[in-house]
Amino acid sequence: MEDEILIDINSGLSGEVFLPSDKSITHRAILFSSLANGVTLIKCRNIGRDNLASIRVMENLGVRMEGEISHSISSFIKEEKLSCSFSRGENEYDSYIKIRGGGLRGLRKPKEVLYCANSGTTSRLLLGILSAQGFSSKVSGDKSLSLRPFKRITTPLGLMGAKFLSDSLPIEVVPNLKVKGINYRSDKASAQVKTSIMLAGLYSEDEVSVIEPYQSRNHTEKMFRAMGVGVREEVIEDGSFKVSMEEGEKSLGSLGEIEIPGDFSAASFFIVASTLIPNSKITIRNVCLNPSRIGLLNLLLKMNAKIEVINKKKMAGEDVGDLVVRSSKLKGINVSKEEVVLAIDEIPILAVASALASGETVIRGASELRVKESDRISFMVKVLEDFGFKVDEYRDGMKIYGNPKIEKMKNPSQDACWRKSLDHRISMSSFVLEIVKCFKAKAFDIKTIETSFPKFFDVFKNLVK
Ligand code: S3P
Repeated sequence: MEDEILIDINSGLSGEVFLPSDKSITHRAILFSSLANGVTLIKCRNIGRDNLASIRVMENLGVRMEGEISHSISSFIKEEKLSCSFSRGENEYDSYIKIRGGGLRGLRKPKEVLYCANSGTTSRLLLGILSAQGFSSKVSGDKSLSLRPFKRITTPLGLMGAKFLSDSLPIEVVPNLKVKGINYRSDKASAQVKTSIMLAGLYSEDEVSVIEPYQSRNHTEKMFRAMGVGVREEVIEDGSFKVSMEEGEKSLGSLGEIEIPGDFSAASFFIVASTLIPNSKITIRNVCLNPSRIGLLNLLLKMNAKIEVINKKKMAGEDVGDLVVRSSKLKGINVSKEEVVLAIDEIPILAVASALASGETVIRGASELRVKESDRISFMVKVLEDFGFKVDEYRDGMKIYGNPKIEKMKNPSQDACWRKSLDHRISMSSFVLEIVKCFKAKAFDIKTIETSFPKFFDVFKNLVK
């Protein structure tokens, strides 16, 4: 498929998009159900390799699971080393994962190193769980994950009593059954940090709370409550956000059957593509619209995008709706640190939208992007420059001098370094730019994109008439 001209647009994008299930919620459903008392059935759609890393590590920790993996991704069962309890399902995109949780003390010493591949969420949340187990374990990841910072996780968990032999992957975890409470003030808003502390907090009877400068995504808070653990979210005197868990002994109840809504982060590439490509109108179905995740939607509306939310409903305790997106002319804006947190995974595609807006867009307070799956500031600056846009790079963001004249864009070089970012969001963002510029593009970097969005190119191709 990589060599085929995949998309050849004559007159805009049209039709419907069905997304992969939300990656963050799917990770949490898998990890938390593994610690619950009882059986959970997770129905999810077109999930990527990152989510399968969560399944693999929990199976290695002795959690009994079985399921059907949709046939669009059935080759991943073997490639991602899931157990033989997983089979190829009949459905093209829907997968079913049944998890028999053995409770908070139901895990056993793994026989293998817990390999998390590219998945930051799997590894960081897992360390929270492993902090309070009576056995030793070792967590590892691929090259990119091994370069990412883990001190932000080992420091608070260490204050709770956990013991790690290093602060970056591979990390060996020393057996430790006793975890103390903590009132942790984090200097960054990070749902991964917050959730790892909250997972360790399940094993403590003391007060556990996390204060963040801005609100990070709150799927953990919602899911813990649905599983019977009291969690309070509040804004405190200095304007920071505080999450506190109830004190006392805790256990997680089963979620029963849960269907995971679509991933806004995956939707973002289609939202921007149909905004930028003239004569487009698409409908994106069942998108999770949790307010802590839809920063990009609000930023694009400020830029004058035409996006409508219809068919609002609830799924898995989250706000969900369909998005109707039409082509529109955008204007540049200033993006603050608080807005960056709510759009943290969407800044690469926001940079694409900003490049084709009239006027300048300034994004600040985004230094976290330098330690994602790649240095996303550096790569996006290179992508935009390669397509002929002027960009100033800052330590914590960028200034993009927008130019809506598509005919002024340059043809990108075929051997540019950004093509080897090995970062799914950089690959999908640059693909959107290439389609806008050339109206044609070949599929590329499929394996990288499968981290979060298998069949991304097929879904795109469906919108071309
Ligand atoms: C995630 C939190 C975010 C986000 C990541 C997924 C999560 O990371 O970038 O893709 O599921 O908790 P940080 O918490 O490090 O900001």
